Amino acid sequence: MVAGVCYGVVANNLPSASDVVQLYRSKGITGMRIYFPDSNALKALSGSGINLIIDVGNDQLGNLAASALNAAAWVKDNIQAYQGLTIKYITVGNEVSGSDAQLILPAMKNVNAALSNVGLGGIKVSTAVQSGVTAGFPPSRGTFSASGGSHMPPIAQYLASTGAPLLANIYPYFSYKGDTTNIRLDYALFTAPATVVHDDVSGKDYQNLFDALVDTMYSALESAGAGSVGIVVSESGWPSAGDPMATTGNAQTYNQNLIDHVGKGTPKRPGTIETYIFAMFNENNKTGLETERHFGLFNPDKSPAYPIRF
Ligand SMILES: *[C@@H]1O[C@H](CO)[C@@H](O)[C@H](O)[C@H]1NC(C)=O
Repeated sequence: MVAGVCYGVVANNLPSASDVVQLYRSKGITGMRIYFPDSNALKALSGSGINLIIDVGNDQLGNLAASALNAAAWVKDNIQAYQGLTIKYITVGNEVSGSDAQLILPAMKNVNAALSNVGLGGIKVSTAVQSGVTAGFPPSRGTFSASGGSHMPPIAQYLASTGAPLLANIYPYFSYKGDTTNIRLDYALFTAPATVVHDDVSGKDYQNLFDALVDTMYSALESAGAGSVGIVVSESGWPSAGDPMATTGNAQTYNQNLIDHVGKGTPKRPGTIETYIFAMFNENNKTGLETERHFGLFNPDKSPAYPIRF
């Protein structure tokens, strides 16, 4: 059972927020990630019991990093203003790169302080990263990379001090697409019949790429002196159209196997790994590659894009 599904709204044809909440409940989906504090969604979620990840929105990073007062105002308007929510995490920045990455840590500190000041310190503050912040192979050699992840060690150490997990967007699809010569499709889809990668440093065996990517991130946390920090997979998924590997068959295989796998954890951290599938709906107004508009488990009319058992 996965923890939840990401509810993106970059589309002009989606059901109302209350219908969406009803759809989550009818499918037994108990968690949701939303990408900004969408007032329609937050009102519809009141009393639903659905566990939430709420992103601040990357456009708010500068504002929240700039001052404690700004963060207090943001918390008042976007969190305290709503009743009856079960908020687990606030995500300060999603896949932030370049110079804006320097804003993540001060913004996280200001949001944490603002929450504590109003008695909401139980909400954990984190940031969501992509696999590109790490480098190294096999998984036990994972580190935060000098090119894409130099901002990460102080963030990891801060998470260790607050007890919040790191949120990681983990996409075997993109790894496979980026290197179809060296990466096997069955390894990416959780269908390899036996070990594909033997980690000769840790002695651990990897039969799927998802576990290898997550464990690389765990190793990076350890190498930054933050081995106590857990990982929540804040996105994972596979598109069902838009390129030759993005078929409904592959999307169904990946997402069903993901759902069936996450209760087992990874070779490095057996147990359950809290995971959010990307995404609930196909979003027709997403820009970029055609595949970006086909990550949904559901069509906008609420019919399944392909069969999935939650
Ligand atoms: C969203 O996508 C639909 C379908 O492609 C299109 O008709 C509409 O103009 C788009 N809306 C925006 C705001 O881009």
